[in-house]
Amino acid sequence: MDGVLQELERRRGAARLGGGERRIAAQHAKGKLTARERIELLLDEGSFEEYDMFVSHRCTDFGMEAEHIPGDGVVTGWGTVNGRLVYVFAQDFSVFGGSVSETQAAKICKIMDMAVRNGAPVVGLNDSGGARIQEGVSSLAGYGEVFQRNILASGVVPQISVIMGPCAGGAVYSPAMTDFIFMVRDSSYMFVTGPDVVKTVTNEVVTAEELGGASTHTRKSSVADAAFENDVEALAEVRRLIDFLPLSNREKPPVRPFFDDPERIEESLDTLVPANPNTPYDMKELILKVADEGDFLEIQADFAKNIITGFIRIEGRTVGVVANQPMVLAGCLDIDSSRKAARFVRFCDCFEIPILTFVDVPGFLPGVGQEYAGVIKHGAKLLYAYGEATVPKVTVITRKAYGGAYVVMASKHLRSDVNYAWPTAEVAVMGAKGAVEILYRSELGDAEKIAGRVKEYESRFANPFVAAEKGFIDEVIRPQSTRRRVARAFAALRTKQLSNPWKKHDNIPL
Ligand code: HXC
Repeated sequence: MDGVLQELERRRGAARLGGGERRIAAQHAKGKLTARERIELLLDEGSFEEYDMFVSHRCTDFGMEAEHIPGDGVVTGWGTVNGRLVYVFAQDFSVFGGSVSETQAAKICKIMDMAVRNGAPVVGLNDSGGARIQEGVSSLAGYGEVFQRNILASGVVPQISVIMGPCAGGAVYSPAMTDFIFMVRDSSYMFVTGPDVVKTVTNEVVTAEELGGASTHTRKSSVADAAFENDVEALAEVRRLIDFLPLSNREKPPVRPFFDDPERIEESLDTLVPANPNTPYDMKELILKVADEGDFLEIQADFAKNIITGFIRIEGRTVGVVANQPMVLAGCLDIDSSRKAARFVRFCDCFEIPILTFVDVPGFLPGVGQEYAGVIKHGAKLLYAYGEATVPKVTVITRKAYGGAYVVMASKHLRSDVNYAWPTAEVAVMGAKGAVEILYRSELGDAEKIAGRVKEYESRFANPFVAAEKGFIDEVIRPQSTRRRVARAFAALRTKQLSNPWKKHDNIPL
């Protein structure tokens, strides 16, 4: 028996060493942790159960038959995050550059299949040189198998990708199909074709960081949802994100203990909206004051800042927040903000996370650029996402809710359940000045007359009461009591039942 146990320990030790001490040191020298160190940080202490530790590749080309490293460049298994089941794979850059072989892909597929069957999230820690070059098409086939599983798991279990090293070529498409992508600054990048190919084809000179670093993908392309300073911070934030999410579409989001009174009154909110309707204010203040313990996990914080998306808890229960931000582009909707919010709303809906919408929107952003780039279709994404969502929806209009954007932002007409307005709300087809310029074009030369018309329009429409009289607003509430009113609304909606007509799937404007 002793001999067998020793052999087991010897084999385990060899597998744990991955590509060897020299390559591990090289990984550390780049400021990166190893696959196993990352898993340790991601999961609860001592909870990791590893699978397929001894799996090895089957390639016999290019001298590979002589190079077998147990595990084949990826560490896979399951563990817990704050006691809740999570499946994980972590590519091991010290083994053939973490490159994807047929067998590495099979290991990843195995835990993805288990995650779907058992109803638990999949976290992928990506750090790989891409397709294992020695294996040719077998490696591509492996990628294809992973892609197919990403697609089938979408909307069934949450999928989270962390990019912690290179991720290039077709390899980027697996993370792209997951729900959230986190990146690590300065040590990770994602692109379909690298700087050398770009130079050859388009003659553009660009560094890997500029082309596909964390800053590019969180600010410009919106491929990534957040970026962090180092591996430790990124993994801590993945744990925080998982705490907000249900394990699968078969379960409700978790309920956490809370220490914040749902009845809490916030008098400062009574003066949040400035007297001048054109003066901006920070919508994040409202989100933080409504959230349990002021805890807000923002998604895509650096992209399309005219809309805010992220998770809070109310009475310990996860709520997805979408809010116009008057500090940026006056809170207008445009292509980027519509896409950002639509994806977030759809994520919430497929995982039964209720949606809270704060509205201060003067309309869609005008412009030739917006129209040419298809604001009609992109804006429709948000409209569509809100309209198809069947989760509990609560909306609070703080100030402007004009035109089409009023309808889009979780209005009553898109089956929002409870629609509140602050007394400062203005629900109208457009702002008073714009309306008067159209209605009284012939009087435009007469400033005094026009000023009178603007006043008249404002007193008629720049308030929440016209909409409230029609039942489009359920109640005009005091800003200070927003947390209490929203908490009560969601509590009453816990038993909500609503489903859409049967269809194979919808045809959202892509
Ligand atoms: C096999 C690979 C590999 C790969 C790296 N290695 N990439 N082995 N297949 N794709 C090995 C190296 O030979 C080396 O082995 C070790 O990993 C570390 O690589 P280095 O080059 O020393 O590291 P570094 O300088 O940090 O550069 C990392 C890198 C570079 C930028 C990722 O290795 C690289 O450019 N690799 C090739 C990338 C690529 O073209 N991949 C195919 C993309 S196409 P030793 O033994 O020396 O430690 C693709 C298609 C997917 O992925 C399609 C899906 C549908």
